[in-house]
Amino acid sequence: MSKKIMLSGVQPSGDLHIGNYLGAIRNWARYQEEYASFFFIAYYHAITEIKDPQLMREATCHVAADVLACGVDPEKCTFFVQSHARTSLELCWVLSCVTSMGDLERMTQYKDKARQLNIPVNAGLFLYPVLQAADILAFKTHVVPVGDDQCQHLELAREIVRRFNTAYGETFPEPQQLLSEVPRLLGLDGDSKMSKSKGNTISLIDDPESIKAKLKPAKTDVHRQRRSDPGDPSQCNVYTIHQGFSDPATCAQVDRDCRAAAIGCIDCKMMLADKLAATLAPIRERSRELRRHPDQLREILRQGSARATLTAETTMNEVRDKLGLFHP
Ligand code: TRP
Ligand code: SF4
Repeated sequence: MSKKIMLSGVQPSGDLHIGNYLGAIRNWARYQEEYASFFFIAYYHAITEIKDPQLMREATCHVAADVLACGVDPEKCTFFVQSHARTSLELCWVLSCVTSMGDLERMTQYKDKARQLNIPVNAGLFLYPVLQAADILAFKTHVVPVGDDQCQHLELAREIVRRFNTAYGETFPEPQQLLSEVPRLLGLDGDSKMSKSKGNTISLIDDPESIKAKLKPAKTDVHRQRRSDPGDPSQCNVYTIHQGFSDPATCAQVDRDCRAAAIGCIDCKMMLADKLAATLAPIRERSRELRRHPDQLREILRQGSARATLTAETTMNEVRDKLGLFHP
């Protein structure tokens, strides 16, 4: 039996951080051989917000280096840049013709961004989920490992599949989301989602000193005002990070000691800092090494893009047949 297909993408919006890692990238590396896997840098999604070409060029290389450093292996999966495998752009147009405005208007990510940016939203931001669906459908993807902030976009992708299949006949499988076992990380400020643009992250290439410095002031359970106040780990983002990186025995110990006020938050954070530093050290080293050779990174992405295009074009020809279009 042939393998099921896995696909996921990440935006090139700066260095990857531990939220990206736990929410998605760690699973990319884990499952890359169990599935026929396609992973890519979502360049066209990023330009809905980032308007700085220099940043774009840099971030594309940095994110590629980070992804490879996390163990994603271009020999075992297909790793590419969305803008090189252009088929999904064409499919995006086709899919937009079976997507209802009402469904797009309900997308919370777009509504949040519209509010945050405080400027009229560009049409790309509105169509963002359709392009995401096109990325997924171009490879007839079964499984999509992404963070829980992408649930609604995955639901929409399934709706688009149903609409297309109803209109033109069975073509695409309904893609399922593969959620990570760790709940969503908040930023270190404890308020919002961990995101590069808010400066509340620990990045994968942070060194031990900056990990410590960043964790020290991080928000914990608000009920632990004094060292003697018992805490509730389920209300603490630092604990959530422990769950992602520390072993189960350590987590159980932290849980007990926190509830009994047997450890202070600083002890708890420094334990986590050591664990993080140890886990991230090899990733940081590999990423720094890879970043020194941008030409090699680009070559890896080019080869991946060529492979990705072959698969996506096979799908696209089937779509053209269904729509009554000639092949180019
Ligand atoms: N929207 C995704 C994110 O920000 C990135 C993305 C684009 C993606 N296309 C995709 C993820 C297709 C999975 C599948 O995380
Ligand atoms: Fe969070 Fe650890 Fe402090 Fe408990 S002891 S509130 S888990 S940082």
